Amino acid sequence: MEILVTGGAGYIGSHTCVELLNSGYEVIVVDNLSNSKRESLKRVQEITGKHLKFYEIDILEKVSLEKAFSENNIEAVIHFAGFKAVGESIKMPILYYHNNITGTLILCEEMRKYNVKKLVFSSSATVYGMPKSVPISEKFPLSATNPYGRTKLMIETILQDIYASDKEWSVAILRYFNPIGAHESGRIGEDPNGTPNNLMPFITQVAVGKRDKLSIFGANYATHDGTGVRDYIHVVDIAKGHLKALEKIMKTRGIEPYNLGTGVGYSVLDVIKNFEKATNKKIPYVISEPRLGDIAECYANPIKAKTILKWSAEKNIQDMCLDAWRWQINNPNGY
Ligand code: NAD
Ligand code: UFG
Repeated sequence: MEILVTGGAGYIGSHTCVELLNSGYEVIVVDNLSNSKRESLKRVQEITGKHLKFYEIDILEKVSLEKAFSENNIEAVIHFAGFKAVGESIKMPILYYHNNITGTLILCEEMRKYNVKKLVFSSSATVYGMPKSVPISEKFPLSATNPYGRTKLMIETILQDIYASDKEWSVAILRYFNPIGAHESGRIGEDPNGTPNNLMPFITQVAVGKRDKLSIFGANYATHDGTGVRDYIHVVDIAKGHLKALEKIMKTRGIEPYNLGTGVGYSVLDVIKNFEKATNKKIPYVISEPRLGDIAECYANPIKAKTILKWSAEKNIQDMCLDAWRWQINNPNGY
């Protein structure tokens, strides 16, 4: 079965390509390499010993994107392509709305034209805004606090409207919590540009000596140790969730959101302790001001994905730390 993966050269996309190829799918990647390198796809093929087809294409370019549909026999799409940096989205909202929303609209137009109506979409726990309580279930009210989050929320709404207008569609909306870690081979992983915004890549860069210390953004939250609590989940577990969602949408019609999280929350200090234990590396840190827009606690109720998709996370926080570290030491400068 041929699967189109938009954004397949990126962090989560590349790990998902590995799982797809290992499970016997034929993979067609469309990526403009705006936030990734061709090398990641080379390594995906090296890890799996299988070939994938790559189009260096911007999904905003309808004519180019159409080639991927006309030259292949695509049966379903996994849609990762998009921009994802919250701070950047506040500074460049037009860029974010255009790339994420227009990109998705063009993709859906092409899908409709080629009668491909099976879609797995990358959403985010950010669509829960400032949740009133934890754990967060899919029924919680949705809101967003920044342009990036609003693009995810708007795309979810657009997909609902598409399904409402044509009941042949089958869409899985996957709301990821905090993906971290890397493939256990240490060959593919997260390769942020410049200073990492996210906790784990920052920690690994401190551990490898690229940065002096970590700043912990706030230690007065109402959590067990005062630092922010998140649902960190191994990127390979996230990737496997896509295969389960794919199996589901191939058999059914409708549109459903699913949380992809472990259901367990760890604080920033918990992550540091686990990283130090897993790697024997010391992480110096200072406490600094809270980051604007951050919430105290965010973790999933993952029961819906468990019961309906038959998926649950298998890897623990030690695996996440060790695998993130292996990727970092093997690739100190990324790809
Ligand atoms: P990533 O930046 O590593 O991957 C996105 C890929 O899309 C990149 O390879 C980039 O080059 C490509 N891309 C962007 N715009 C494109 C366009 N117009 N045409 C073609 N390719 C384009 O990000 P990721 O961490 O792998 O995230 C994948 C998806 O998951 C994104 O939609 C992101 O918003 C979502 N998500 C990520 C996280 C996270 O923490 N990583 C959390 C929740 C949701
Ligand atoms: N943190 C630090 N220091 C850092 C980086 C992060 O203390 O240098 C803290 C944050 O304050 C937070 C925790 O570590 O408490 C996790 O922060 P991340 O930036 O790694 O992750 P977030 O939960 O803030 O954001 C992630 C994605 C967003 C997405 C959001 C909600 O990066 O794109 O989850 O799903 F919107």
